Amino acid sequence: MYYRRYNKEVNVLGKRWWDKSVIYQVYPKSFYDSNNDGIGDIRGIIEKLDYLKDLGIDIIWLSPVYKSPMDDNGYDISDYYDIDKQFGSMEDMDSLIEEGNKRGIKIMMDLVINHTSDENAWFIESKSSIDNPKRNFYIWKDPKPDGSAPNNWRSIFGGSAWEYDENTKQYYLHVFSKKQPDLNWENEQVRKELYKMVNYWLDKGLGGFRVDAITYIKKDNTFKSLEADDNEGLAHINAGSLNQEGIENFLAELKENTFSKYDIVTVAEAPGIPREQLKKYSGPEGFFDLLFEFGHSDLDVAEDGKWYTPKEWTLQEFKDALFKSQEVYNDLGFGALFLENHDQPRSLNKLIKEEDIGLSSAKMLATIYFLLKGIPFVYQGEEIGMTNVKYDSIEEYNDISSIDQYNSAIRDGLSKEEALTSVHNRSRDNARIPMQWDDSKNAGFTKGKPWLKANNNYKEVNVKNNLEAEDSILNYYKKLIDLRKNSEYSDVIVYGKYKGFMENDKNIFAYIREYEDKKLLILANFYSQNIKLKLNYTVEKVLLSNYGSFDISNGEIFLKPYEALVLAVL
Ligand code: GLC
Ligand code: CA
Repeated sequence: MYYRRYNKEVNVLGKRWWDKSVIYQVYPKSFYDSNNDGIGDIRGIIEKLDYLKDLGIDIIWLSPVYKSPMDDNGYDISDYYDIDKQFGSMEDMDSLIEEGNKRGIKIMMDLVINHTSDENAWFIESKSSIDNPKRNFYIWKDPKPDGSAPNNWRSIFGGSAWEYDENTKQYYLHVFSKKQPDLNWENEQVRKELYKMVNYWLDKGLGGFRVDAITYIKKDNTFKSLEADDNEGLAHINAGSLNQEGIENFLAELKENTFSKYDIVTVAEAPGIPREQLKKYSGPEGFFDLLFEFGHSDLDVAEDGKWYTPKEWTLQEFKDALFKSQEVYNDLGFGALFLENHDQPRSLNKLIKEEDIGLSSAKMLATIYFLLKGIPFVYQGEEIGMTNVKYDSIEEYNDISSIDQYNSAIRDGLSKEEALTSVHNRSRDNARIPMQWDDSKNAGFTKGKPWLKANNNYKEVNVKNNLEAEDSILNYYKKLIDLRKNSEYSDVIVYGKYKGFMENDKNIFAYIREYEDKKLLILANFYSQNIKLKLNYTVEKVLLSNYGSFDISNGEIFLKPYEALVLAVL
């Protein structure tokens, strides 16, 4: 067995191989279809590695490609040791790792260990009888005396979190869909099996893992009902299964038996961790290297989680969500910086008024998150300014949460149009539509029939056009990446402290980064009006600007709509 052991020598300066990295998320089903069956695949990713190399990224976070019945597009794994046929084979996966290595690109796989698919061999055995040795691999409970579910927890994709099994007359728990039964982490055997599997993959030489829904692994073991929050008498499952006391023991054990033995980077999907606890969860001493926090990305979702419930938000809230954790990361090292992923609508639609979506606003958004303290993530298509899709009917959607949200809106009395509008705004399919490569049919994603229809705007918004136009969003991303990795300001961008600047301004998004004798000011106009402001700093150099020209004189800066500047200041 080959272990790339964690090398303390390398770490004397607190520096690691991935410090300067930029991570690019690939949603394999939608990235590139190499055999024209309408579904993106691993060979397709290999074909596009040179594109990613040219963009300048270092690590690919690959959403799940394991064997799966695809109830939740691969986040329901039926065999951890196999690749799903629609994506390719284990040989393809090995060659992706190898071809990546040749280009200096590491692969970070998705690790889904809160639950499996109900078609996983473990679950099939577990379900077969009450005394099967694998029965306790999952969470089974007797019905209440009246036959109903053990408690009133509602799953994240809607409906009761319990599913009844006729055969053995018990219910099993599923935080997500009923085809995603939760593993029983209290069972030591389960944990051992999972660690073995994690190490199997790490031995292949991965760059790391993105760890799915990990803050759900510990349940409130009293399994008591919660106060209902809807008219069906159900209550959101978070209070019974998110960040429960004792989860630290599981996470520490996971790290000790797997991640800590390898020189890798881990990033955890970890909603709901109180700021005071971030230190325990992330950084060199934490359970993971990086954490995805969602405060800034879910600002447009109301408390009840229903997409049709209107929710206003302000720039101030957006800034506060991002900046508060930046202060924590000043001590911890790095945050995970992102605006988009496969669960979110496109950032341009979420953050910018529809009529203002364009080159300047897209580059402005890129600038403001990319230079915060942390490791930047780019989601496929974000680098060319892809936007949300508006399908005409719910039948055209694939995402299970969209379908659940639509049905619940209809149940609550909304019209079809209203229900559909909420799906347009929030569907996870907004991020899952085919990657737009060129202006040929299906955006050049496939010559077959794509599993999701391409966005109508692909003739303008595509990689080919972006590569050709000098002032494109893609070329701007390249400049940002270059500034981070290869410029004389690299250290300040990677290691510098975050410092607030005009934090309470209603129109401006700005901050300072500071390291040794260098100081950067990242300054952006978040809206469409012109702004004039006076600076207390001397501008030494303009490192990046999202317009061709800028207007700075005698300590005064004039900002055009959505203008963003990266300034070296004294
Ligand atoms: C995470 C994934 C999401 C998935 C869920 C269940 O939130 O990002 O896509 O549906 O976990 O695995
Ligand atoms: Ca294919």
